[in-house]
Amino acid sequence: MTTGPHPGARNARRRVLARMAGALAMLPFAGALVAMVGQRRRGRPPRTVRITPDFRDDVAFGDGLIVSRAGDGRVAVFSSSCTHLGCRISRVEDGRLVCPCHGSRFSLDGSVVNGPATRPLTQLAFTTDPASGEFTIDVV
Ligand code: FES
Repeated sequence: MTTGPHPGARNARRRVLARMAGALAMLPFAGALVAMVGQRRRGRPPRTVRITPDFRDDVAFGDGLIVSRAGDGRVAVFSSSCTHLGCRISRVEDGRLVCPCHGSRFSLDGSVVNGPATRPLTQLAFTTDPASGEFTIDVV
């Protein structure tokens, strides 16, 4: 008479262990892939965007950017990528920039008004051409 687990249970355990071993064997490759993607992103040259903001409610959207004019008249340029999970912010409600995905709200100076986002919008340096009103922004 034999004792111990049923042969079917033993086979199932072997299959689970084999799958776990297979998954563990893939980890170095997954790590290498993540490192390669990160390296490509870091190596990407900045692109230059030129826009002439068409302000509506003190905000203009374009080419992945938000140009805002705060109450004191100061202009700022932000990435339109939400700092929560990266959705593109493309609308203003009651003077707030609103993310369409989970409802984060940002003031026109980029600070968080309501989460789930916890970090302010990414501010970008820019130059202006007073003659044309064109903004030039280097986007990384
Ligand atoms: Fe914007 Fe979640 S991605 S609130």
